[in-house]
Amino acid sequence: MKELTLKTNVKVYAPEELDAETLHLIAEAKQAASTSYAPYSNFHVGAAVMLDDGTIIKGSNQENAAYPSGLCAERTALFYAHAQHPQTPIRKIAIAACQNEKFTHLPVTPCGACRQVMAEYAGKNKATMQVILYGTESIYIIDDARELLPLTFEL
Ligand code: THU
Repeated sequence: MKELTLKTNVKVYAPEELDAETLHLIAEAKQAASTSYAPYSNFHVGAAVMLDDGTIIKGSNQENAAYPSGLCAERTALFYAHAQHPQTPIRKIAIAACQNEKFTHLPVTPCGACRQVMAEYAGKNKATMQVILYGTESIYIIDDARELLPLTFEL
C-alpha cells in the first residue's frame, strides 16, 4: 500500500495587497453580481472570466422556480466564455457574492460542479486557470483551478 497526499495551495490576501489586474477582475465580478437572478436564495453571485487575450466575460447565478434548473455564476460565465471563444484559454476567474446588499466578509467558495467545469477547461488548454475568491476582509487565490478538485473526473 502507498498513500497519495493531495495538496491545494490557497494564498490569502488582504485587499490592499492585490495588484491592479486582480482588483479589476474582482470589480467586474462584483458588478456581475448585480445581474444575478436569485429570488429564491437571495444570494447574488457574480463571476468574471479573463481569457488569454485579456477579454473579460461576466456571468451571474440564474435561478428558476424549478430549482435544479438554475445555474451558478461560475458556470454561466465559463460556458458562455467557452461557447464564444472555444480556442482561447481561460486564464482567470474571479467570484464575488452579495447577501442582504453586502458582499460577504469571507470569500465564496465554488460548488463541486463548478470546480469540475473549471478543472476541465483548465486541462483542455493545458493552461493554468487562476481562481480568485473575493471576500471584503480576505481574498483567496488558487493559482491552479485543478487543485480545487483533486482526482477530477475525466473521460
Ligand atoms: N451559487 C453560485 O452561483 N456560485 C457559488 O459558488 C455558490 C452558489 C449560487 C447558486 C444559487 O443560485 C445560490 O448561489 C445559492 O446557493
